Amino acid sequence: MIIAIDGPAASGKGTLGKRLSEHFGFAHLDTGLLYRAVARVMLDQEIALTDRDAAHEVALNLDVTHLDDPRLRGAQMGEAASMISGYQPVRDALLAFQRQFAEQPPGAVLDGRDIGTVVCPHADVKLFITATPEERARRRHLELLKRGEQTEYETILGDIRRRDERDMNRATAPLKPAADAITLDTTRLDAEAAFQAALDLVKAKVA
Ligand code: DC
Repeated sequence: MIIAIDGPAASGKGTLGKRLSEHFGFAHLDTGLLYRAVARVMLDQEIALTDRDAAHEVALNLDVTHLDDPRLRGAQMGEAASMISGYQPVRDALLAFQRQFAEQPPGAVLDGRDIGTVVCPHADVKLFITATPEERARRRHLELLKRGEQTEYETILGDIRRRDERDMNRATAPLKPAADAITLDTTRLDAEAAFQAALDLVKAKVA
C-alpha cells in the first residue's frame, strides 16, 4: 500500500506523513530531504548551485543513509534544495530510490511535491495538502521561534511565496495535485485535526 502526500512548503505534509506512517506501521520518506541532501553536499564542497552537471553527479552518488542530519532542516537548505530540484537530471537520479522505497511491505508513505504525479502515479491514496501562505508562514515562524531561531514573520512569508512560485512554475515535475488526488485544506485545522481528517480520507479511500 502506498500513500502519496504532496503540498507546498510548510503545509504540514511532513508531520502528517509521519503520523500516518506510524498509525499504519508503514515506512515514511520525506522526499524533500533528498533534494536538501544534494544541496548540502554541494554547499559543503563549495560547488555553485547553478552547476547542473555537478548537481547531477552529486545526486547520482548521494548517500541516503544520512537523511537525519539536522543541518538539512533549516530554511537556507530548503531554498537551496528548491533551486537544484529544478534540474531534470537531478530528479531522474533520485527517482529509482524513491520508487524502491515506496514498494516495501506492508506499505509506505512518501511526501513531497511530485509523489502523486511522477514518483508513484499508481499510489493507493493521494493527498494534496494546502494552507494559505499566511497560515504556513505563521506555523513556520512559531516553529523557528521554538527552536530559538530569531526570524521575522514577514521574511518567512516572503520566502514561502518565492518558493511556491518556483516549485509551481518550474518546467519539470511542478507542484500540482494529481488528477485523482484529494485536496485537504488545513488552514483552519490544527495538527491533530489535520491528522484525523487525513486518516478519515485514507480509510474511506481504501475501504
Ligand atoms: O519539502 P521541502 O521543503 O523539504 O522541499 C525542499 C525543496 O525540494 C522544495 O522547495 C522543492 C524540492 N522538492 C521537490 O522538488 N520534489 C519533492 N518531491 C520534494 C521536494
